[in-house]
Amino acid sequence: MRVVVTGASSRIGQAIVRLLGAEGHYVIALYRSRRERVLEALGGSKGEIHQLDLRDENAIQAFATKVGEIDALVNNAGILAKGLEVVHVNLIGTIRLTEALMPKMALRSSIVFIGDALADGGMRDYPHYAASKAGLKAYALSLAKLLAPRVRVNVVEPGIIKTDLLESDAGLEGKFRKAVPLGRLGSPMDVARAVLFVLQEEYLNGCILRVDGGLAITNLANI
Ligand SMILES: NC(=O)c1ccc[n+]([C@@H]2O[C@H](COP(=O)([O-])OP(=O)(O)OC[C@H]3O[C@@H](n4cnc5c(N)ncnc54)[C@H](OP(=O)(O)O)[C@@H]3O)[C@@H](O)[C@H]2O)c1
Repeated sequence: MRVVVTGASSRIGQAIVRLLGAEGHYVIALYRSRRERVLEALGGSKGEIHQLDLRDENAIQAFATKVGEIDALVNNAGILAKGLEVVHVNLIGTIRLTEALMPKMALRSSIVFIGDALADGGMRDYPHYAASKAGLKAYALSLAKLLAPRVRVNVVEPGIIKTDLLESDAGLEGKFRKAVPLGRLGSPMDVARAVLFVLQEEYLNGCILRVDGGLAITNLANI
């Protein structure tokens, strides 16, 4: 498969690039600023990397013009922050890229959106982020109806994944870990394996796959 992966420099994005590369797929990895992390993830695998800011409409169009036919798009880039900027990147930028690439999607190709297992319940501290992810899910499910049977569209929703911040704050990490029914936080590779699964399974369309160790069904989901 020729697969476009956004946010390839993120912890989860790097794991997706590594896994797809190891499985022999050709990865077209997009990043905004941390090029060295994408190169590290791609390693010796087949692929290419492109710098692209999802807020830049012209850059999106230019990339869509030059990229060849693709078999999959993994919309992973996303920021967790306060304010409307989050909506511009996570929702508007991702929709713009997806629509620009639609003419390039091969017959029987697929799109995966990375959502968030906790977004639907609302987030006191990150309302714009929660809105961006909930909106993205509604958009993804709409595409799953609109583009079938030519293109499948699915959503993978991580719970709390081990990040640099959590690794540096043992107290917070421990608190979250205890709240997860499976007793541990997710790893970027847990999410990457779910992405590979939905890319490969040909009868999945409009599927929402939570990768959260059961967190969304607990009280901690009320954050
Ligand atoms: N980590 C978690 O616990 C968790 C939980 C639920 C959902 N998720 C979702 O999983 C995805 C990856 O999360 P992560 O924690 O691995 O991410 P991260 O480490 O915080 O990195 C954010 C990623 O988004 C990219 N990005 C930011 N602004 C951009 C822009 N304007 N244009 C293009 N790319 C931009 C960054 O690119 P550069 O680094 O190159 O600037 C980076 O690759 C996100 O969609 C996130 O919402 C994560």
